[in-house]
Amino acid sequence: MKLIAAVDQNWAIGKDGDQLCYIPADLKRFQALTTGHTVILGRKTLATFPGGRPLKNRRNLILSRDPDFAPEGAEVFRDVDSLLAAAPADAFVIGGESVYRALLPWCDTACLTRLHHTWPADVWFPNLEADPCWQVVQEEAPMEHEGLWFHYVTYGRVL
Ligand SMILES: NC(=O)c1ccc[n+]([C@@H]2O[C@H](COP(=O)([O-])OP(=O)(O)OC[C@H]3O[C@@H](n4cnc5c(N)ncnc54)[C@H](OP(=O)(O)O)[C@@H]3O)[C@@H](O)[C@H]2O)c1
Repeated sequence: MKLIAAVDQNWAIGKDGDQLCYIPADLKRFQALTTGHTVILGRKTLATFPGGRPLKNRRNLILSRDPDFAPEGAEVFRDVDSLLAAAPADAFVIGGESVYRALLPWCDTACLTRLHHTWPADVWFPNLEADPCWQVVQEEAPMEHEGLWFHYVTYGRVL
């Protein structure tokens, strides 16, 4: 499985239940990479989507321990083991922090948008630069949106 996330210079990914920023080119890339695939996300990340609805043209697997949580158009799993039994190998883990951390050991690729900025935050992605299991396998040239610089980096599992 793969992880996909946008992280700031401190590996922060969100604050107060929302993303740190929205970059149109990054959203397009997210759509292009994940469309037609399965996406795996936590109940709180689903709540950040318009209307709290699952993503279109993708199979949505949601983690939640709430037995009454049953959003239309998604499959809900109460624990990691039952989710892993249902998740195909080409699935993308799309957040948030708790789900990235829970599923990192089962992933071999991380498609990251590294944002050249820092924000106040309350959720973080695992720091792959400090993890000997991961190394950079592809790095693209920096791009800019309204003064905010960012670049795409792919990490691969080596251990
Ligand atoms: N920058 C990015 O790329 C990016 C991407 C995605 C999200 N985000 C940000 O990340 C934040 C959300 O992250 P988060 O960690 O607070 O929430 P989250 O991971 O999206 O969702 C947490 C919820 O998922 C369920 N859950 C998590 N682990 C579980 C497990 N092992 N078994 C069963 N259920 C489990 C629980 O739902 P219940 O409470 O219903 O039991 C838990 O409260 C937001 O700020 C969002 O904007 C950023």
